[in-house]
Amino acid sequence: MARHKGLVLAGGSGTRLYPITMGLSKQLIPVYDKPMIYYPISVLMLADIREIAIITTPEDQAQFRRALGDGSQWGLQFTFIEQPAPEGLAQAYLLAESFLAGAPSVMVLGDNIFFGHGLPELLAQATAREQGGTVFGYRVADAERYGVVDFDAAGQARSIVEKPSHPPSPFAVTGLYVLDGTAPRRARDVRPSPRGELEITDLLQMYLDEGSLQVQRMGRGYAWLDTGTHASLLDAGNFVRTLTERQGQQVGCPEEIAWHKGWIDACALRARAERFRKNDYGVYLRGLLGEDADSG
Ligand code: DAU
Repeated sequence: MARHKGLVLAGGSGTRLYPITMGLSKQLIPVYDKPMIYYPISVLMLADIREIAIITTPEDQAQFRRALGDGSQWGLQFTFIEQPAPEGLAQAYLLAESFLAGAPSVMVLGDNIFFGHGLPELLAQATAREQGGTVFGYRVADAERYGVVDFDAAGQARSIVEKPSHPPSPFAVTGLYVLDGTAPRRARDVRPSPRGELEITDLLQMYLDEGSLQVQRMGRGYAWLDTGTHASLLDAGNFVRTLTERQGQQVGCPEEIAWHKGWIDACALRARAERFRKNDYGVYLRGLLGEDADSG
């Protein structure tokens, strides 16, 4: 098991998806057949992480507890942490400092969806590094909406710029951050940006400046999906539906990952399958057990 602990940052106001998010946190709205947050949690599970803190707004924490429980249904252990106000991604490390207790971490934004065959290997490489950090650069057509990597002539990353009006490269930094145990201490030195947030890019720059940040390219064989607009949210749902129906395999299914890793037993998986027996998700879980949907 990884030494790393997991963080899912699932706060924020979600105003870009109003009116959907007026009564429901963004990270709990559906992406096809499951709540959005199932996908980033699955990514942490693929990185072999079982201790996970879910960071939410104070108002929404009860929703997340209801939707996710304590994690034991997936062989996980959830800790819920409040972020009183959306004061930036780097603040997550301050809020989670005692949870992390010096451990390295993998943080994933609760609205980021990743899909790709080599994901476990990519994560294993990143978590194998003892010191420093790893982030993932992904080529996008609209880099100005993201943190963007600026490479020098030798192809080395020299800076990461948040939402530049003229992107220095087409490589966005995805919302997946593998950082060593020094992240909370460094986060204390991050000062609020002009927009009033503790920017993750400033924290990453500290690692970059000392040459300890690896910017790993996540190639075209991976999907990194956007859920930031009504249209892209629907596209993400359709992507998941297309793959699920075509392959007969689930995308971002925590029960499946937990089962394959041996973190839950047949009894626990059967209980989930039974709960969802009225839909294809439940039938799928039943299939993992090698049992017929009608037989039990
Ligand atoms: O998705 C990747 C991008 O995520 C990176 O390329 C950027 O460098 C990074 O700043 C971030 O950009 P966004 O514009 O997507 O950040 P946003 O403010 O939308 O926040 C991302 C998620 O984190 C969103 O689901 C809300 C949540 N959040 C955000 C803030 C600022 C929190 O939970 N707390 C916060 O304080």
